[in-house]
Amino acid sequence: MIGFLDRLTRPLLHALDPEDAHGLAIKMLKLAPLPPAPRDDKRLALRVFGLNVPNPVGIAAGFDKNAEVPDALLRLGFGFVEVGTITPLPQPGNPRPRLFRLDADHGVINRLGFNSQGSDAALKRLAARGSAGGVVGINVGANKDSADRVADYVQLIERFAAVASYVTVNISSPNTPGLRNLQQAPVLDDLLARVVDARERVAPNAGPTPVLLKIAPDLSLGDLDDVVGIARSRRVDGMIVGNTTVARPPNLLETEIAKEAGGLSGRPLFPLANRMLAETYVRVEDVFPLIGAGGIDSGASALAKIRAGASLIQVYSGLVFRGLGLIAEVKNALLTALDDDGQDSLKEFIGADAAAVTAEPWPK
Ligand SMILES: Cc1cc2nc3c(=O)[nH]c(=O)nc-3n(C[C@H](O)[C@H](O)[C@H](O)COP(=O)(O)O)c2cc1C
Repeated sequence: MIGFLDRLTRPLLHALDPEDAHGLAIKMLKLAPLPPAPRDDKRLALRVFGLNVPNPVGIAAGFDKNAEVPDALLRLGFGFVEVGTITPLPQPGNPRPRLFRLDADHGVINRLGFNSQGSDAALKRLAARGSAGGVVGINVGANKDSADRVADYVQLIERFAAVASYVTVNISSPNTPGLRNLQQAPVLDDLLARVVDARERVAPNAGPTPVLLKIAPDLSLGDLDDVVGIARSRRVDGMIVGNTTVARPPNLLETEIAKEAGGLSGRPLFPLANRMLAETYVRVEDVFPLIGAGGIDSGASALAKIRAGASLIQVYSGLVFRGLGLIAEVKNALLTALDDDGQDSLKEFIGADAAAVTAEPWPK
């Protein structure tokens, strides 16, 4: 069914303006009568952030920004779904066009700027899921015109803790001016103190909702020292490494499109994202787990992410170029790796290459 849907629709989606294609994909997922995903091989299951995840392959934030199709995405075989970024109030984002495909590079540039239906709409949808099950996290961000951005995060944690499996504090989008300044040490310390405090405050009703921090791959290693130190001292439950990059690797083929402002994702992001993941892993010293995102578009790149330090992985741009078959391809590759290594859990792979990756020359 999924293969059929994919073969039928991918050429059409590719012919459209990228943002129209995305809108159509969401509509199709709302309407498609998808059967429940087959049960995953139990060797792919992990317990991470106190959550039982049936397989480590998640869909990254930004695909289902308004929590419209989390259950359809779970039915496609994802082990977990991250909806959002949601902002407190609705906002339109930047003017179109704001989403670009770098076909020859298998990359994407976006400057959407947190286009969001706002927290009321998403909250209603997630609350209506009730006890549907599955791991569905929400990624939260501040409104562009907010007078107090930290307060935006606090109120979103308070509102969503009861309906989300976890909450990701997104301070790494390059498309909201000034947002990434929240990664600077004193500001981040205050933000995380207040966010974790909010989580504790609502825990009697909402339960122990894990709080994750999503960072940019563009941090300097000195800044990363600070960010990891603060995340550890403020006891966040994990980190996502990472968001899109404002850098443009020198070997991009689509040189004209590469001049568009925004965050680059997909295959060209892999080397930098993987290096930053490994750098984060060696600094975290197993105090909390990491989610690896950035440029996964094959079984091999997914396994490399896990070996660089990811307990879970997330894909987005790879789906644009490889289609939904990527989900099964990654799961099969992970099972083959387990067979080849005589392992019955992915645990042995997590971070196995982190030290080696950090010893390589810095990726261009
Ligand atoms: C079109 C698009 C929209 C995105 N929107 C968000 C977002 O709202 N919040 C967020 O944290 N990340 C967002 N991202 C970043 C992804 O979640 C992910 O971190 C990044 O794209 C790297 O993964 P990939 O190379 O597999 O795409 C977006 C990415 C793309 C391509």
